[in-house]
Amino acid sequence: MKVLIVGSGGREHAIAWAVAKSPKVDKIYCAPGNAGITEYAECVDIKAMEFDKLVAFAKDKEIDLTIIGMDDPLVGGVVDAFEAEGLRVFGPRKNAAIIEGSKAFSKDLMKKYNIPTAFYENFDNKEDALAYLDQAKMPIVLKADGLALGKGVLICNTLEEAREGVKTIMEEKKFGSAGDRMVIEEFMTGREVSVLAFCDGKTIKCMTSAQDHKRAQDGDQGLNTGGMGTFSPSPFYTKEVEDFCEKYIYQPTMDAMAAEGRPFVGVLFTGLMITEDGPKVLEYNARFGDPEAQVVLPRMKNDIIEVMEACIDGRLDQIDLQFEDNAAVCVVLASDGYPVSYQKGFLIKGLDNFKDRDGYYCFHAGSKLTEEGIVTNGGRVLGITAKGADLKDARKKAYEATEWVQFDNKYMRHDIGKAIDEA
Ligand code: AMP
Ligand code: GLY
Repeated sequence: MKVLIVGSGGREHAIAWAVAKSPKVDKIYCAPGNAGITEYAECVDIKAMEFDKLVAFAKDKEIDLTIIGMDDPLVGGVVDAFEAEGLRVFGPRKNAAIIEGSKAFSKDLMKKYNIPTAFYENFDNKEDALAYLDQAKMPIVLKADGLALGKGVLICNTLEEAREGVKTIMEEKKFGSAGDRMVIEEFMTGREVSVLAFCDGKTIKCMTSAQDHKRAQDGDQGLNTGGMGTFSPSPFYTKEVEDFCEKYIYQPTMDAMAAEGRPFVGVLFTGLMITEDGPKVLEYNARFGDPEAQVVLPRMKNDIIEVMEACIDGRLDQIDLQFEDNAAVCVVLASDGYPVSYQKGFLIKGLDNFKDRDGYYCFHAGSKLTEEGIVTNGGRVLGITAKGADLKDARKKAYEATEWVQFDNKYMRHDIGKAIDEA
């Protein structure tokens, strides 16, 4: 069969790698893709938000299955656009992707269906938000309602900071229209875990757990980023935590979405905080995580196409999802200065070192093929993943492999997976 993948990040490279392993697949396209993805797919110059062009391409090439990797097109209704033309597509429809697209929606959903999450209030004007802060406990968390590249969350330690934050979101509109509404919520402490799950609208089957490192610098300092590295599984996601989440979070979320007339089909990403009072939902995303996919997919035993088709056809209950009994660590190699400003266009050397190395992966994010070779083309450039017998082994291997590639302004965190030592 012919598959089209929509997106251009490390996540889409990991998806393309997994799709290429499926014996069912003869040809893969990726729109727009990146230099690394060309190893598995023919990249086509259509942007993820150009729905008409994507649909026309899928019809013209007789694509059997389109997989949407990114949040923006999902929230914008790309799945509906494909379905309207009778095309098969993997991902939630617009009315379900709202679980990521509006934090106010997801908070109200959790409240209505008693799904554990932080206390909160939604606001659609600055005055009410500021008034609320006067009686709130610090620290406090401010969240722009809409999509903001993972950067629309402000953690404020003082009332003053929080007041500034409200202005940043609602007055200065730093996150654009994402800040037309906002959520103000209780600050939680604990371990964070990301759990991705396949969903067919009724059944939800979780993949192995992962932990992201959102901040730009070592010791969780600096600005929030899309993610600087991941490990899988999380040693903090114990059987007890998992059982609790199955019972009180995952299935109730599926049922809540169905009850609201918004059945969720695709990958649901639940960001959890394991607090002293038990696990609570930090956020939902309507897609694979990036760089969570880069540690979860290399450990998955199933044929990804079989699982995705089962989701679309509503028979996920028949799939036995299986993961290898090992571990993986992904270290992101970024351009120095990310997530604020950085230079691009530097030659990437050493990529061949990953050829035929079992258990090592170099997933491209911001890379571009030029006449000189493959050059840096974004903030997050590469995700270096290694599998190991356990987390420590995987971490050692991943950091060794980060030395195999070189480019000017290469930047990485050196403490990805450090939390493992405390487990
Ligand atoms: P989100 O995009 O909602 O996952 O938020 C980004 C990051 O902000 C999360 O990964 C957490 O590290 C942090 N965060 C979000 N909400 C809270 C909260 N209620 N308490 C503490 N930290 C939070
Ligand atoms: N790594 C977090 C995300 O994909 O949103």
